[in-house]
Amino acid sequence: MADIRKKQMASETTEAQIAVHWREEEYYYPSAKFIGQANLTDPGIVERFSEKNYPECFREYADLLSWDKYWDTTLDTSDPPFWKWFVGGKINASYNCVDRHLAKHKNKAALIFVPELEAEAPVSVTYRELYVRVNEFAALLRDFCGLKSGDRVTIHMPMVPELPITMLACARLGVIHSVVFGGFSGEACGMRIADSGSHVLITMDGYYRNGKLLEHKAAADISLDIAKKEGQVVDKVLVWRRHAGKNASASPFVKARDFWVDELLPNYSGQIVPPVPMDSEAPLFLMYTSGSTGKPKGCQHRTGGYLAYVTGTSKYIQDIHPEDVYWCMADIGWITGHSYIVYGPLALAATSVIYEGVPTYPDAGRVWRIAERLDVNIFHTSPTAIRMLRKAGHDEPSKYNYHFKHMTTVGEPIEPEVWRWYYETVGKREAVIADTWWQTENGGFLCSTKPALDPMKPGSAGPGMPGIYAAIYDENHQEVAAGSGKAGNICIRNPWPGIMQTIWGDRDRFVAQYYAKYCKNRNSKDWHDWPYFAADGAVLAVDGYFRILGRVDDVINVAGHRLGTKEIESACLTVPEVAEAAVVPVVDEIKGRVPEVYIALQPGLVASPEIVDKVNKVIETMIGKIARPRRILIVPDMPKTRSGKLMRRVLAAVSNNMSTGDISTLANPDAVEKVREMAQGKESVALADGPEDLKKFGTED
Ligand code: WTA
Repeated sequence: MADIRKKQMASETTEAQIAVHWREEEYYYPSAKFIGQANLTDPGIVERFSEKNYPECFREYADLLSWDKYWDTTLDTSDPPFWKWFVGGKINASYNCVDRHLAKHKNKAALIFVPELEAEAPVSVTYRELYVRVNEFAALLRDFCGLKSGDRVTIHMPMVPELPITMLACARLGVIHSVVFGGFSGEACGMRIADSGSHVLITMDGYYRNGKLLEHKAAADISLDIAKKEGQVVDKVLVWRRHAGKNASASPFVKARDFWVDELLPNYSGQIVPPVPMDSEAPLFLMYTSGSTGKPKGCQHRTGGYLAYVTGTSKYIQDIHPEDVYWCMADIGWITGHSYIVYGPLALAATSVIYEGVPTYPDAGRVWRIAERLDVNIFHTSPTAIRMLRKAGHDEPSKYNYHFKHMTTVGEPIEPEVWRWYYETVGKREAVIADTWWQTENGGFLCSTKPALDPMKPGSAGPGMPGIYAAIYDENHQEVAAGSGKAGNICIRNPWPGIMQTIWGDRDRFVAQYYAKYCKNRNSKDWHDWPYFAADGAVLAVDGYFRILGRVDDVINVAGHRLGTKEIESACLTVPEVAEAAVVPVVDEIKGRVPEVYIALQPGLVASPEIVDKVNKVIETMIGKIARPRRILIVPDMPKTRSGKLMRRVLAAVSNNMSTGDISTLANPDAVEKVREMAQGKESVALADGPEDLKKFGTED
């Protein structure tokens, strides 16, 4: 085994190719030191969460919380697949993340904010201070904005402590928050405001990124215009200030609409807002994510089940104890940040670190300096960040005196070589690694090793989590056997407390997207008939470990961020010169995948750099910089089937130098050759093989 690995390394295989030519990897084992202190060391958990104890097993997670009223039904399956959890219970998420820790931990840091500029010292927010700030802001939301339980609020903010404060203030009132990733454009934010029906937008004047103070409030003005066009009027915009006494934004304030939070807050000084006991099933938040169609969908998460699930998994899989300093580098604007920066860690009274900026700013040692300075012992990030840090400073971690006991990787498949660098160099062979596979829709982890109980296997997420019965099905609805080496669709056979309730305002789409494919009987009220379809390809090894291959739908996972190809295509089609647009994923050494755009122009028009420029700009303004394509290729003709369907799979093959397969049945096979020349040059050679997700990529329309 070791020899094979040496050979792999010696042959200078790129990271992407290692993922393709993946083979069985050796196990790595947790240290005695880690096991000695771990929260979860009882192998009996597997039996306790086995199918015969389902669904009552999830009481164990719910019992980690403080309930205003205990529930009477653990799982209600009367309206499949709209499962209900801990029915009859009343609970408040803000109380569970803040108030209940005051007795024991009031002077402990709940949050440590690390500004991007190193000259600015980290700022700690104790649990007591968090309590005061959440209450004051909740009073402002209630009395100044008139918000009450069930209302929606859109939050478009960077990585600052005011973001979790805002979320927890909403949760205190039962107001449903919808946080939009700060890097999304005003347009993208506006569409989400409209869909959620928010009357209030909460934003910030600016924030630091790569050493520069970026203007952010201007996006609010754009988003309000867009929302209005969509029929949603926002009456108040609350603007947090990044620097006391300064204004990072040049955009003018609209009278009676825009307000500085720090000018209003003194009116609510010292006010205490009683946490509203919410129904277990009351929505806690919406999180928009990309799917197969152009429009992002609002994943609606419940209060009781979600909080129970993230708290249980934070305790057992993240191994969070109150004395830990925990740093998750994700953005709070994504689900990982919601579950594993804010709700999970704070429900367990941990110290959660929030870093404002870019991991490599001002140099490749920054992350490790932060870890050393704050004595972080649990670290959580994505393969893209790991690849980036490895490239920028392979040996940097050894220069700093920090010690992680636990590290997580999430968001994309991790190549075994990258995993080993994470383990050996970042973790200094001391830390266990949890490769956690899950999605925005899921609330929390679905597959991972149990850190003190299961050995780790580079590149594999591991078995289904306790109480999560995962299986792989093929296109004929047959279960794919473990060890068969065959890839298929990973599904979860049962409901769990963290699963979203529905797509906001679109029950039919919820059923169609996640349950229609493998539902055995639409009339059945038995959950066994309703497997959840995750839209990821996977293989299952004999040891029960799942290796995730990537999306099987039109989603591109760019640096761990989910982008819909259809969203990007719709943006391109708003450029008048563009007749057709096709977006495909291309393998990227650092980001995993990046989008590449093919354009066909309206008849009679000639390709020009100006058109390329327009397309680039429109993608940036309608979605955000994260969606920037690697290339935009204006081609004379798109490959199509005889019935006129656009063949994205062929374009994806061309973009990735893969074999296009049999194209003789296309309406215009010679178009492929022209496209290939444009994309690869005359001398190109197609590789026989490529990543699984690319082979099957794309719908035809
Ligand atoms: C991918 C992020 C491999 C997967 C929490 C999924 C992963 C999508 C892993 C969801 C992992 C997430 N290994 N792939 N450990 N974790 N993915 O909604 O394709 O932003 O469907 O949620 O990321 O992305 P999302």
